[in-house]
Amino acid sequence: MDDRGAMSDADRDAGRIAVGVDVGGTGIKAAPVDTSTGTLTRERIRLLTPHPATPEAVAGVVAELVDQLDCPGPLGVTLPAVVQHGVARTAANIDPGWIDTDAAGLLAAATGRPVAVINDADAAGVAERRFGAGAGVDGVVVMVTLGTGIGSAVFVDGRLVPNTELGHLPLHGGDAEDWAAASVREEEDLGWKKWAHRVEAYLQLLEKLLWPDLIIIGGGVSKHADRFLPHIETRTTVVPAQMHTDAGIAGAALFAPAG
Ligand code: BGC
Repeated sequence: MDDRGAMSDADRDAGRIAVGVDVGGTGIKAAPVDTSTGTLTRERIRLLTPHPATPEAVAGVVAELVDQLDCPGPLGVTLPAVVQHGVARTAANIDPGWIDTDAAGLLAAATGRPVAVINDADAAGVAERRFGAGAGVDGVVVMVTLGTGIGSAVFVDGRLVPNTELGHLPLHGGDAEDWAAASVREEEDLGWKKWAHRVEAYLQLLEKLLWPDLIIIGGGVSKHADRFLPHIETRTTVVPAQMHTDAGIAGAALFAPAG
């Protein structure tokens, strides 16, 4: 890889390179990814998420990131929304203008690349299940991302059940994510232990419904797992994600269309 990030023959030989883009509430991050290992082949770049994060505004920022990366290849893009066959269906933590938008078509037109669009937690979960904390684990694996909201990815023997949206399970009189997301810890200035007990209640609800073999905790907060996981008691083994905030980018790239 040269200074500007252009691909060398060595990069090409390492495996298929696709570009992963992770659209979050505050930032949009992108990097080229070696899809055979899930590794970012150069440091990711990040631009602020526009406000309001309308489809057109986000598409403009994604196009800018792709230009800056200057790396050929198809794109995989995450959205914090239910995404069915490239079409966004919900918008809990993003502009409502996304609902029923052909996100894959819009982003392909904006970037001139083949594009696949998937739910953010599904993308992060696929990367962790394949290359990170869930590698080689069969049975039911649940990845939960604790961030602005709560995202979920459910695997059965390595196969993803997409768009599970378990952050919206009812808990404590409302949506679970409104009570136990990582953003709530900051907004309500909760100590780690107090917040951990909320996460514990949420994980216990998940285990009551799904009986997972493994639960993986993802999202930026997974870097601080030592602050809260010791306060959580569950029947299921709970482990922090290993790829942290790179999981979304890596997982997105795995979904990029061939070509
Ligand atoms: C959305 C999910 C998303 C999660 C994490 C939730 O509010 O409904 O689609 O995966 O937040 O961003």
